[in-house]
Amino acid sequence: MSIRLDQTVPFGRSLREYELMFSLSAVDRRGRILDCAAGPASFNAELTAAGGTVCSLDPLYQFTGVEIQRQFTATLDHVIAQVRTTPQHWVWSHHRSPDDLRRNRITVMEHFLSDYRNGRGTCRYVCGSLPTLPFVRDQFDLALSSHFLFLYSDHFTEAFHLEAIRTLLQVAREVRIFPLIALRAERSQHLNPVCTQLRREGYTLSIERVEYELQRGGNEMLRLRRP
Ligand SMILES: C[S@@+](CC[C@H](N)C(=O)[O-])C[C@H]1O[C@@H](n2cnc3c(N)ncnc32)[C@H](O)[C@@H]1O
Repeated sequence: MSIRLDQTVPFGRSLREYELMFSLSAVDRRGRILDCAAGPASFNAELTAAGGTVCSLDPLYQFTGVEIQRQFTATLDHVIAQVRTTPQHWVWSHHRSPDDLRRNRITVMEHFLSDYRNGRGTCRYVCGSLPTLPFVRDQFDLALSSHFLFLYSDHFTEAFHLEAIRTLLQVAREVRIFPLIALRAERSQHLNPVCTQLRREGYTLSIERVEYELQRGGNEMLRLRRP
C-alpha cells in the first residue's frame, strides 16, 4: 500500500499539474470548467488569473482558509513520511523528490489561500459534496475530478462512483477523471464495473494515457461524454 489514510488528504495541485493530468488544450482552458473535489488546488486561482472560468466545489469549503491551512499542515509531514518509506510507488519526474513535492504542495496551498479569501462564498468556490451537485444541466463545458474518484475506492462504493459520475455528466457535457488507481497503487476495483455500466447506459468512455505520473502507474485519465 502506498498511502494509508482514513480520510481524503487536503492536498492541492497546480494549473500545470491539471494541464498534464487532464491533457487540457487551449480550447478546454477557454470553456466553463467545474473542478469537483477541488480541495486546496491552485488551478482555479491560476486559470482565473489567466482569463479562464472555473468553479471549484469541495466540502472543504465549509472551512475558513485558516482552518484549511491547519488541516493541511497537520497532514503534510505524515504524508511525505509515507512517501519516503515507499520509494517504489513514486515517479520523480514532475516533482524531483519528496522534499520538492513538499515544497510544491506548500506553494500551491499558499496560492490557493490567497485566492480563496476573496473567492470564498462566490460561485468560484462552492461548498458541496458528491454525489449531488448544486448546478443545473449543462452549466459547464467540462468537469474535472482529480485525486478523489477512484483514488479513494476503499472509502467510497461502486454505487457512489456511478451516482457521482452520472451527476457530473448532467452538469457538464464532458467529464475527465484522474488517476484511475486507488491509494494502494493498483487500478481501482470500481473502474471496470463502473465503465461497463456507463457504456450500457450509452455514455462514451475512453481511458487515455497522460503526461503526468507521480504515483507509479497513475498516468491514465478516464474521459466520459454523454450520449
Ligand atoms: C486529495 S484532494 C484533491 C484536491 C484536488 N482535486 C487536487 O487534485 O489538487 C481530495 C479532495 O476530495 C474532497 N472530497 C471528499 N469527499 C468529497 C465528496 N463527497 N465530494 C466532493 N469532494 C470530496 C476532499 O475534501 C479533498 O479536498
